[in-house]
Parts: sequence; structure tokens; C-alpha cells
Amino acid sequence: MPRHIAIVMDGNGRWARRRLLPRLAGHRQGVESLRRCVKACAARGIAVLTVFAFSSENWSRPQDEVSGLMQLMGKALVREVPQLTQDGVRLRFVGERSGLPGAMRSALEQAEAATAANARLQLNVCFNYGGRWDIAQAAAGLAARGEAITEASLQTAMSLAHAPDPDLLIRTGGEMRISNFLLWQAAYSELYFSDTLWPDFDEAALDAAIAAFCARERRYGLTSEQVRGAPC
Ligand code: FPP
Repeated sequence: MPRHIAIVMDGNGRWARRRLLPRLAGHRQGVESLRRCVKACAARGIAVLTVFAFSSENWSRPQDEVSGLMQLMGKALVREVPQLTQDGVRLRFVGERSGLPGAMRSALEQAEAATAANARLQLNVCFNYGGRWDIAQAAAGLAARGEAITEASLQTAMSLAHAPDPDLLIRTGGEMRISNFLLWQAAYSELYFSDTLWPDFDEAALDAAIAAFCARERRYGLTSEQVRGAPC
């Protein structure tokens, strides 16, 4: 089983358009799908789930969609945190906080504090996040402290240093790209692309992704024989 699953939750807009609904209706349904996925991961013993909720590039979307997503996040926090607390989910937000409105920043901090003692599942929500930003902020932090920039020091300065690297990276919605998500951490992640739009990504779709992961051989640069322990 993967210890850490990361997901690019793509396809909300198309889900809505197919139903002649505004894009925001797709994002609302996306929140429902995320709630279902969190429960499913907890039930399957997954330790860490990391999701891409709002990228550094998403600010360039139409203004009404951006403000709608911000409002959705604010409402989701108020509504979901009590249940997450009850379900043993520890919530962490990963991304550039200085770019967020002050009220949003304190809402994120409160949600993190309210769930800090939970240990069943760690949920990392990447919000105002970009993989390049993450590498740059890690390097800038090390440089400011006069520390050497090495693979090991960067690893400890990355925004997901508290979690193991993702074993399985899923992207829904049919596109096959990384889109500036977890560029550093996904070095050895198994990639899984699903045509299912995020609002339709249910337990069966998650199980199919996990089954595909379990059938992979992870070699980390070694040969198949080395991994299987056979003589060369
Ligand atoms: C990509 O689908 C999805 C997003 C940019 C937002 C993902 C957000 C959620 C699932 C809701 C949880 C997050 C918050 C903020 C509470 P898309 O809009 O690019 O879909 P498309 O490719 O079909 O247009």
C-alpha cells in the first residue's frame, strides 16, 4: 500500500460544463469528492494525502472564479474542521501564505491548530502552491541562514519536509502532466493518470489507482534483478 498519495484534482470545470452549470458548481462538487477521498484514504490506512487545491498560477483565472474558490475554501474550513477533528485527520496547508488575505491566513492557522493533535491521516492541502516556488523558498531560506545548499539540506527545507515523499501521484481529468505540483518530492513517485473527472473520482476509482500502484515495481535506479534480490 502507498504510505503517501498525492492528487491533482483536475476536471471540476468540465464536470460543471457538461451539466450546463457554472464552473464553481464543479469546484463545490470537488469539495464533496475530496471529503469522500479523505474518508476512503483513512479507511484504507493511508498515512498521508496531499492535494493540489489552488496553484500559484490559478490567480490568473477569471476574477469571479478566484474569489469563488477563496470563499469555498473559507466555507469548507468552517464546515469540515469539526468532522476532520473527529475523524483523526491532521490538516496542514502548504504554500505561500504571504500572498493570501489576512482573514484567510488566520482561518488556515486556526484549522491547523484545531487538528494538530490528530494522527490517523495527515491531509496536506496545497494552496497558493507551486513546485518551483517550493524549491526556491527552500533554497532562499538556506542561503539566508548561510547554510550550504545540498540535496539533504534542501530536503529538510522543503514545505513538505514533515512528510515522506509521495509514493503514488494521481492526476484526474485526463491530462497527463505535473503542472508544477511537488516537483522535488515526486522524483520517485509512481504516476497514475485517470480520465475520471475529479467530482466523479470515487472509492472504486481510488482502489483502481492503488491496485495499479501495487502492480508496479519501484526500482529507484536499480535493475529489476537487484530489486528482487536475484543474483546478477
Ligand atoms: C482543477 O479543475 C481544480 C482546481 C483548480 C481547484 C481544485 C479545488 C477543489 C477540488 C476544491 C477544494 C479546494 C478548495 C479551494 C476548497 P479545473 O477547474 O481546472 O477543471 P477543468 O480542467 O475541467 O476546467
